Amino acid sequence: MSIYILGIESSCDDTSAAILKDTLLLSNVIANQDIHKTFGGVVPELASRAHQQNIIPVVEVALRKANIQKNQLSAIAFTRGPGLLGSLLVGTSFAKSFALGLNIPIIEVNHLKAHILSHFVQGKEPKRAPEFPFLCLTVSGGHTQIVKVNSPSDMYIMGTTIDDAAGEAFDKTAKIMGLPYPGGPHIDKLAKMGNPEAFHFPEPKIQGLNYSFSGLKTSFLYFVRDNLKLNSNFIEENKADLAASMQHAIIKSLLGKLKRAIKETGIREVAIAGGVSANSGLRDTLTALAQKENWTLHIPEFQFTTDNAAMIAITGYFKYLEKDFATQDITPRAKSLF
Ligand code: KG4
Ligand code: ZN
Repeated sequence: MSIYILGIESSCDDTSAAILKDTLLLSNVIANQDIHKTFGGVVPELASRAHQQNIIPVVEVALRKANIQKNQLSAIAFTRGPGLLGSLLVGTSFAKSFALGLNIPIIEVNHLKAHILSHFVQGKEPKRAPEFPFLCLTVSGGHTQIVKVNSPSDMYIMGTTIDDAAGEAFDKTAKIMGLPYPGGPHIDKLAKMGNPEAFHFPEPKIQGLNYSFSGLKTSFLYFVRDNLKLNSNFIEENKADLAASMQHAIIKSLLGKLKRAIKETGIREVAIAGGVSANSGLRDTLTALAQKENWTLHIPEFQFTTDNAAMIAITGYFKYLEKDFATQDITPRAKSLF
């Protein structure tokens, strides 16, 4: 018999619900919250209020698009953390009460593990899932990690950022340049028209497999500030080159450590996940590198790069197979353990 999982994601500013029939995606509905654009970043209180408004319609649409009835659901998986507490609370409370009403189990999901497991969702494009063990570079707005994935339930963080995440580096670069939030996609678009060698920003020197992006951000800020003193049109006249050069520096740092992790572990099965894995510069550079180095590379479909509930549902599916269910007294965790 097939397993139907409803996934709920509400960790930040996207309210999402998805339904899987085993690993096959039946629907993946996302309500973005435009309200934060006015403030240049996510306002937690507004995010949780918008989740409250969105959650029921989003789940209704997900069920309708999947063409199933709610009483066909086998379980409900939800993001327990990490994320904004007020936002997580909405998804968690909804999942708990809906599951109670339907008399089905609930499954708690770690958002970062879910980004990685999104590679196992059968989406629009036919795609081979990664083979275990594999290495995953998770690059999102809040996290940057190199993870060794032994199985869906056995993952180990080999390296992480000691300060800003890669997504934050993109977003802060965009903010300095006066671009809207979130800035990653804007930098990506501009970078395509610019010269990545136009300006040089120092590569972070951090030991081992860890990352650091705050120094890079500061050097970009000072560089732009100094040049603006000489030419008030500096950003406007150089925006494509600035975006391309900064993107190049971020990608160089990301891939330098990934290459090292592959060398250290001998694992040549490689994946990327998280919002920044949508970046075309990262995708192209990594594709070329993987070809040269003979790695098997897994790049996610665009719909699975930024926050979505399909990744929560697939993690729920794996946990369902293990009968790894949560109890009704579960609470969300802003800083959840991996
Ligand atoms: O995974 P995600 O949706 O949310 C978190 O879990 O944090 O990632 C959001 C991040 C933002 O920082 C956004 O600017 C970045 O992903 N991002 C991109 C691109 N698309 C989204 N960064 C660079 N290039 C892109 N095309
Ligand atoms: Zn995320």
